[in-house]
Amino acid sequence: MKAPVRVAVTGAAGQIGYALLFRIASGEMLGKDQPVILQLLDLPQAQDALKGVMMELQDCAFPLLAGMTASDDPEVAFKDIQVAILVGARPRSKGMERSDLLAANAEIFTVQGRALNKVADRNVKVLVVGNPANTNAYIAMKSAPDLNPRNFTAMLRLDHNRALSQVAEKTGKAVADIRKLCVWGNHSPTMYADYRYATINGENVKDLINDQEWNANVFLPTVGKRGAAIIEARGLSSAASAANAAIDHIHDWWLGTNGEWVTMGIPSDGSYGIPEGTMFGFPVTCANGEYEIVKGLEIDEFSQKYINITLDELEQEKAGVAHLL
Ligand code: NAD
Ligand code: LMR
Repeated sequence: MKAPVRVAVTGAAGQIGYALLFRIASGEMLGKDQPVILQLLDLPQAQDALKGVMMELQDCAFPLLAGMTASDDPEVAFKDIQVAILVGARPRSKGMERSDLLAANAEIFTVQGRALNKVADRNVKVLVVGNPANTNAYIAMKSAPDLNPRNFTAMLRLDHNRALSQVAEKTGKAVADIRKLCVWGNHSPTMYADYRYATINGENVKDLINDQEWNANVFLPTVGKRGAAIIEARGLSSAASAANAAIDHIHDWWLGTNGEWVTMGIPSDGSYGIPEGTMFGFPVTCANGEYEIVKGLEIDEFSQKYINITLDELEQEKAGVAHLL
């Protein structure tokens, strides 16, 4: 039996937490032979609800669940963790400007970044889900100077999966057969979902679709505004699909992608003209617990225009929190 891996989940009593924890405990994230210990963090007022979730986890009698703890203190919840999924964040409420939200979350992710710096395993893999995910991940990374910046990532996988499904529907082909799709930039409506390099059973998706109007006026807005469409329809933001994307992100980072492309929000190494350190969605492949940016792709004029828009937005978010770091 392998030694258990310590996994922290923040916002564990929330709706994404409820869709996420049971799948981690059943082995869907780190493998069916990998025991886990769940270290759950939520606010003091959510501790009762969190206890209820833990009772349910217990009642599942998962063979791979080797232990669990609950806390409202990040330094307790993050002790020795090897994986951190940071879901808990302040949602935008009535009358709140985007800059207010950035400031409220900057505080949460500064505190949590510092706690990771202090008590987490030195190779901890961090995924930020809570919005604005890219900038929150950037703040946590900047607040943890003793940890490798590469270990801080933001979730663009939901956007990647949404794009896969839209392409599958348009082409009438199976999601499982689509390769080499990616989403560039920010997890926000400015993201740029890109199927120029995608293939289905060896055929080029761009040729199969052959409809630039659909790309610009249907595909990009549909993927970019999918989060808002779900809030409109459900009255609540996406939860099961977000949890599923978090599982996919960590699964692939931990276990590898066998050469396939996936999208991760990662600190730029300067590739494609994205300033170093900017937390940006890139096509990556994963192997041996590391990700690598897919290099050398040609960026045409249309793509560059969209990449510039999403980069500008991220730079503005970064500037909005600079004084807090
Ligand atoms: P939710 O309100 O149901 O749950 C959030 C939980 O976080 C609550 O239990 C709350 O008590 C807790 N929390 C708040 N501040 C905390 C803190 N400082 N420390 C620990 N816990 C804290 O929300 P949800 O639907 O689970 O969504 C959570 C976040 O994920 C939101 O910011 C949402 O916008 C974001 N989200 C991101 C994506 C993505 O693709 N990146 C997708 C969906 C949702
Ligand atoms: C999503 O993409 O579903 C989430 O980020 C929720 C939102 O506010 O769009």
